[in-house]
Amino acid sequence: MNRVSKRILIPSAVLMFTLGSLACVAQKTAKPAMPWMDRSLSPDRRADLVLGQMSFDEKMQLVHGTGWGVLRAGDPVPAASNRGAGYIPGIQRLGIPDINLADSAVGVRMAGPESRYATLLPSGLGLAATWDTDAANLYGQVIGRELRAQGFNMSIGGGVDVMRDPRNGRNFEYAGEDPILAGHIVGELAKGVQSQHVMGDIKHYALNDQETGRSVVDVHMDKRTMRETDLLAFEIAIKMSEPAAVMCSYNLVNGDHACENDYLLNQVLKKDFGFKGFVLSDWEGTHSSAKAANAGLDMEMPGEDYFGAGLKKAIADGQVPMARLDDMVHRILRSMFATGVVDDPPVRSVVDPFKGRDDARHIAEESLVLLKNAGAQLPLKSATVHSIAVIGGHADVGVLSGGGSAQVDAPGGNAINPKEATAQWGKPVYFPSSPMMAIQRLAPGAKVAYAGAEDVAAATKLAASSEVAIVFATQYMTESIDPATLSLPDNQDALIKAVAAANPHTIVVLETGGPVSMPWIDSVSGVLAAWYPGIGGGEAIGDVLFGVVNPSGKLPATFARTEADLPLPQIPGMLAANAPVQDMKTDPHHQFEMTYPEGIALGYRWFELKQRKPLFAFGHGLSYTHYKYSALKVDAGNRVVHFQLTNTGAVPGTEIAQVYVTLPGASGEPYQRLVGWERVPLMPGQSKSVDIALNPTYLSIFDVPTAGWKLLPGEYKVSVGAASDAIALTGSLDVH
Ligand code: BGC
Repeated sequence: MNRVSKRILIPSAVLMFTLGSLACVAQKTAKPAMPWMDRSLSPDRRADLVLGQMSFDEKMQLVHGTGWGVLRAGDPVPAASNRGAGYIPGIQRLGIPDINLADSAVGVRMAGPESRYATLLPSGLGLAATWDTDAANLYGQVIGRELRAQGFNMSIGGGVDVMRDPRNGRNFEYAGEDPILAGHIVGELAKGVQSQHVMGDIKHYALNDQETGRSVVDVHMDKRTMRETDLLAFEIAIKMSEPAAVMCSYNLVNGDHACENDYLLNQVLKKDFGFKGFVLSDWEGTHSSAKAANAGLDMEMPGEDYFGAGLKKAIADGQVPMARLDDMVHRILRSMFATGVVDDPPVRSVVDPFKGRDDARHIAEESLVLLKNAGAQLPLKSATVHSIAVIGGHADVGVLSGGGSAQVDAPGGNAINPKEATAQWGKPVYFPSSPMMAIQRLAPGAKVAYAGAEDVAAATKLAASSEVAIVFATQYMTESIDPATLSLPDNQDALIKAVAAANPHTIVVLETGGPVSMPWIDSVSGVLAAWYPGIGGGEAIGDVLFGVVNPSGKLPATFARTEADLPLPQIPGMLAANAPVQDMKTDPHHQFEMTYPEGIALGYRWFELKQRKPLFAFGHGLSYTHYKYSALKVDAGNRVVHFQLTNTGAVPGTEIAQVYVTLPGASGEPYQRLVGWERVPLMPGQSKSVDIALNPTYLSIFDVPTAGWKLLPGEYKVSVGAASDAIALTGSLDVH
């Protein structure tokens, strides 16, 4: 792999083999030269043993990267770098490998320039729409195994910032508006990554809930609100997965940048959550040496603006204790041992594109959410449909992906313009998974024709002469830009209206970063949310449209009717013309305060509090069958909710049954919150009893004086149903 593996790792591997096979003899012989290679020791012990052998300079070497490298044209790239987003040289003489990390939010980034292949998974929000922790684990496994095959030993991904604003440009990388759902999905994803012996990361810690002014926005939020919302998502994900790393974010929180925020890093993350891994900064998210180090930042990325000479001086001057440097290094080393990257380093091999595509397709099938299906328009019947108009969204060639550092390179180049060999930040990239081809395969006897979105007249003409019209509507979203509105861009609303006027059987398939408004909703018969569906997306969309797969996804976020219904109809700080915000990075003059008016009542809670009816509620998602909920019993002693679920329709399906709880009045939170759910597969006519245990933390409020969770005495309303606005059963839980 590089200089380390040749000189040190191979001899150490040989040494371990020798020790293993000659165990009896070895008992009497000398101790291993590197006692920290003893796998029976704890990661902390192993880290301490290495630390004891390290010089000051070696320690300093581990706490920062070597620069922007391949991310910035013209910057030097160290020879041993694997050409990912970051590189930290290891300590060869002690058998500590280099850390080579790659962005991998929805698949491994920047594979293209190295002629590597990487699977594009459905977006993170799509994954959340599955409500399936097994799917999340698989998602992480795909990322982990492809990183390993490409020679990386660390992933950066695992975005879990909760959706406060549906216009956040990075919502597609995250897991929606509910902290408990998001925490479980991303925690399981990180477990999947680490199961492949790759260091995992969870980001962007914390309150990085918009891209507008992301480096200068100072989010003001009280502790209770933070802990019950944004930080709860992190708490769940971090405790579930014990990730190697947490990336602190660009923004400020209550006056301090997140990467030098003592409350966020030392007090909450490390003390309260018990996080044992290391904190790395977002790229150029470090703003000081002593302040950041003392606040809990362990590694500056990508370079050494503050954690090189600056940190050395701060240590020499006594501003940062040596023990703090040791703690930083200990955390990095213990994460390397704990995740297995020392014992089982990556072995380069050819990424399996077929396995990746199958996995991506499986996750996509579960992620699709059927929002509307008037008159049982769907599923389409291949035997009886004669002509289908496929309109817009480049559905003839592929599916859209999200941009920025989550961008995965498309095999063969951008499907809509193969001359663009690799992905470019700010340009929509389509992947070669054509929904139209999938539709034609599923309806071999039908005439399937395509019209682009640009020519509304031609599209309308085609729709008028076809039995069914399927419009693919797209919304490209990317890191660093929030769109100003919820509207589909490029006059697609007008296109849909025109097509729907020409054909009463119009179905809209949305490929979007998140929620969008639908002024045409009453004139179309079906709407399917496909998110960014990944490399198996075309096939998954076809299978759902034709009922080969019965849709089971449910919304992980509220779809508002218009911006006027959102807590903030306009995003404060929105720059003129949505200029990318990185330019303003270090200029404190641009800083502005941000208070999210909804506070704890984010997402669906806001809509309940304000008694506003959303276009589609959190948790909503239709199926081709029907389910009946009955026989609710709340076992107060064991805090378990029991009920019966029956498939009353004619086809097999999987229902995501949801449990919400409204806390007693003393909580001051007069709205329901999701506290549990289960995916229940059911054959036609089949009935199952479902038990959902209630985690006391999820029923609690955060008590600031004791810095802990508090279960208030009183009566809790328990609501069970198919969505936050489709409650079938209610009961109560008494807490004494
Ligand atoms: C993003 C991070 C990303 C990093 C490295 C930053 O712009 O905010 O999510 O990991 O770049 O590419």
